[in-house]
Amino acid sequence: MTSLFNAVTEATVRVLVDSFYARARRDPTLGPIFAAAIADDAWPQHLKRMYAFWSSVMLNSGRYKGDPVSTHRRVAGVEPPMFGNWLELFEATAAELFVPALAMQFTAKARRIAESLQFALFPCT
Ligand code: HEM
Repeated sequence: MTSLFNAVTEATVRVLVDSFYARARRDPTLGPIFAAAIADDAWPQHLKRMYAFWSSVMLNSGRYKGDPVSTHRRVAGVEPPMFGNWLELFEATAAELFVPALAMQFTAKARRIAESLQFALFPCT
């Protein structure tokens, strides 16, 4: 078994993002949403944006410039329960890659952002 990452760096953020989206694309619920929204040749660009996003969230790098709420408003087919699927997958990925204390930091941030995103998109749920 390979050892778990014990630091959050640009490089380990990349591994997490790559691994999470590889799973998300295969996921029976989330996969079709991503497939419809992101063409195969646009994936490198999406992943690059997500490296910047998680680097900003976890390392305060300020690399991400964007507006996730407006972006997700344009994503077809998203329903409130999918946030649960997304979080489960993200948390499992973080736990497989990082030592527990760091996996928990990713999880805490992801939950908070997912909650505010879900509230912005579906205020009545
Ligand atoms: C129901 C769960 C979710 C689905 C199905 C989903 C799907 C997507 C899709 C398809 C895109 C690409 C849209 C495009 O470029 O046209 C996207 C972008 C993005 N997603 Fe999600 N997402 C979900 C939840 C989340 C959560 C919980 C987070 C953060 C913790 C997140 C963070 C982002 C960010 C930062 C972007 C890039 C926004 C930008 O364009 O700057 N997503 N998402």
